[in-house]
Amino acid sequence: MTTDDAPDEIALAAALGRLVTEGIALACRRIRPGDESYLLPAEARSISARGAERRRASGAARLAARTLLSARLGEAVEIPRGPSGQPLWPDGVVGSLAHDETMAVAAVASVGAIRSLGIDVEPSLPLPDELLDLVVMPNDRTGDLEPSFAARLLFSAKEAVYKAAFPLDGRFLDYGDIAIDLPAGHATTRTGHRFQLRHLTFPRIVTLASF
Ligand SMILES: CC(C)(COP(=O)(O)OP(=O)(O)OC[C@H]1O[C@@H](n2cnc3c(N)ncnc32)[C@H](O)[C@@H]1OP(=O)(O)O)[C@@H](O)C(=O)NCCC(=O)NCCS
Repeated sequence: MTTDDAPDEIALAAALGRLVTEGIALACRRIRPGDESYLLPAEARSISARGAERRRASGAARLAARTLLSARLGEAVEIPRGPSGQPLWPDGVVGSLAHDETMAVAAVASVGAIRSLGIDVEPSLPLPDELLDLVVMPNDRTGDLEPSFAARLLFSAKEAVYKAAFPLDGRFLDYGDIAIDLPAGHATTRTGHRFQLRHLTFPRIVTLASF
């Protein structure tokens, strides 16, 4: 992965090292012009209807994931999008992808060590006020964090949890269907799943949900 012109990528990669837990590998890539060209044929077909910016971000995320998988599976391992948007991982692998406007992240693990994974990345900024009522629910717990920054962490955690939960049962979850306990580091869903949460707050918010 090229890091020469991307100090933000170097900083996030170093921070991701603090999120790594046994059995889970993480990588990031700054989204660069032309990253859509890293989409392999099945990936490009599965993403063809999306706009250029989304395809660029998807290419960057898959390149990051391939750096984690290539030692075991080779560099041509494909991660197309499934019919509901979920990434389709090769046999024996669970994982998750995310991107914000400038950065893409990937998390992978071997089936067995981990049953399901979800990741999210967000700018390290408060959540806009107009989204607070949509995201923050009475049964979420945030400790003594500043409310609008805590809301961004909740937003990120709920997206990560949704991505980890969907592959288990294919069920849609809304923000109100996921209860987050940030101080305790776990989440529960209306559908009966429970996930461990780990997060970074700087240089970006990154949440990892796993079980
Ligand atoms: C999954 C979702 C939350 C992702 O949010 P986003 O803002 O589009 O984008 P992110 O960068 O965070 O994540 C994108 C990645 O999520 C993954 N993803 C998309 N749908 C997924 C699903 N159903 N299950 C697991 N992962 C999924 C894909 O890998 C995607 O990357 P790709 O487009 O390169 O393949 C959103 O697409 C979605 O499906 N929302 C419906 C459910 C929802 O919003 N509920 C309320 C919040 S819990």
